[in-house]
Amino acid sequence: MVTEAHIQIAPSVLAADFSNLGQQVREATEAGADLIHVDVMDGRFVPNISLGEVVVDAIRRSTHLPLNIHLMVAEPDQLLPSFIKAPTDQIIVHAEACTHLHRTVTLVKDQGNQVGVAINPGTPVSAVEEVLPLLDFVLVMTVNPGFGGQTFIPSALEKVKRLRRMIQEAGHGARIVVDGGVKADWTAQDSVRAGATVLVAGTAIFSPNEPVQQTMKTMRCCLSGLSAG
Ligand code: DX5
Ligand code: ZN
Repeated sequence: MVTEAHIQIAPSVLAADFSNLGQQVREATEAGADLIHVDVMDGRFVPNISLGEVVVDAIRRSTHLPLNIHLMVAEPDQLLPSFIKAPTDQIIVHAEACTHLHRTVTLVKDQGNQVGVAINPGTPVSAVEEVLPLLDFVLVMTVNPGFGGQTFIPSALEKVKRLRRMIQEAGHGARIVVDGGVKADWTAQDSVRAGATVLVAGTAIFSPNEPVQQTMKTMRCCLSGLSAG
């Protein structure tokens, strides 16, 4: 059984104050974040451009935590060398962006890094089935990717449940990540009940009104007593 102690919180820096990014990452680290989620958007796979290699390097220098690097880019293979720079870097590619998903996943694994595959709300869980034995993570998008601050899509919870069953039945160890619209309310709680053990949260953690220490505490409180699945 997965208990709350095993639930990881991954603040997404997309919602941080970019004029103060290093400090925001340090605050999240000190507040007990487990991972730092970094959204790389290329303006092609998603209709937005966020940040690139130089900024990811700066984030890496601001924390000892693993970077959970979410590549929302059209051709991830070409960009992998720009984003895999530390043994702790975790790389997540989109199933929809990879023509040869098995090859892309293997390219990351060959570097010795943890790897995950993300699926959009319109993509079925079967898209990851054949590579599941290779994966450390499956990221279920709970909004359509490209922007922070969107509303959680409830039907994604059923996908999380189906994926959890698929992982259990196959006896694999991939963790389920939910990303998008996750707040310190039913969205986080039901995601955990459905089987997610990594919660990405941007606007719920980085707020102009409340310190990260407080928002992280609120998120942990909301998860207290829950166990996955
Ligand atoms: C959306 C990104 C998310 C985003 C989450 O495309 O992948 O990681 O930063 O932000 P919130 O938690 O604000 O929905
Ligand atoms: Zn993300």
